[in-house]
Amino acid sequence: MIKQLFVLAVIHVLLTCSANALSRHRRVIGGKMAGDGDWPWLVSLHGEIVTKKLFGFIPIAHKHLVCGGSVLNDRWILTAAHCFYDRNGGTEKRKPSNWEAKLASVTLKSNPIEKIKNFLGTLFNKESWRYWEVDVERIVLHPQYSNKNFWEHDIALVRLSRSVPSGPHYDKIKRVPLPSVDNASFPGVGDDCVMKGWGCRSGGAKLSFKAHSVSLPVYNKKSCAKIYGTRDIGERICAGYLYNGKGICKGDSGGPLTCRNKDGQWIQVGVASFSSRDRPGSYPAVFTRVSAYLDWIKKTIKG
Ligand SMILES: *[C@@H]1O[C@H](CO)[C@@H](O)[C@H](O)[C@H]1NC(C)=O
Repeated sequence: MIKQLFVLAVIHVLLTCSANALSRHRRVIGGKMAGDGDWPWLVSLHGEIVTKKLFGFIPIAHKHLVCGGSVLNDRWILTAAHCFYDRNGGTEKRKPSNWEAKLASVTLKSNPIEKIKNFLGTLFNKESWRYWEVDVERIVLHPQYSNKNFWEHDIALVRLSRSVPSGPHYDKIKRVPLPSVDNASFPGVGDDCVMKGWGCRSGGAKLSFKAHSVSLPVYNKKSCAKIYGTRDIGERICAGYLYNGKGICKGDSGGPLTCRNKDGQWIQVGVASFSSRDRPGSYPAVFTRVSAYLDWIKKTIKG
């Protein structure tokens, strides 16, 4: 079984999603849809990469990329490093100017009603009607990130070009709570955790896509390593099921896995990194362990 399992960074492209082995109606992979104002720390990152140029300089074809992320403060987003990695050695995905973040919205693409509401919100200074599309100013990959060995240190920070309202007075954007320490027993095997993102739900469809959440219990690390054919999964957390039709998918990359701690508070413990390429609903997904990177996150955001 191990040899047949392909792993792919659950990266990008809504478009390739429909070509995935998953059949259409299963694409949610067991998820639930978001309502407006749910999950105020959930962010979608949108990349637009020029793939073809006329006469070498007029862009005529683009590739659209989507990753999830979470709000750390008014200026910084936490996501996965592989969102910005190009297998073919290109650097376009690494360029901040090719990326934009959308906050305070559970839809990937705003429908006309949302757009009008947003416009009126801007006009009448009504923040609760608004969503925010902000250019990316800087992308900081973890210095040891490597596409080898199952995307080691698959974590990145994205700085927005301007600050967004966040804080106690604004309900639509909130900081995600991170773990305060690297606690080996949190989250524990079987703990109930939830992944949120846009995943493959959006593949191919023409409607506006809403974020969804899927409940994924923490999976035993050793068994997870075995599934993916490695001895040790390192600073990672596995969550999900074996053959239960629930999981994460392309487009969920970089999105937050949150678990409830003993005080009942939801904490972001993981960043979506990879899953099985061909059958993501059949295997547990793998997340970068946020608590192993707290120092790096703090240092980068301060610096
Ligand atoms: C570590 O996590 C366990 C399980 O949630 C908890 O009981 C314990 O108090 C935590 N320890 C620290 C230092 O936070």
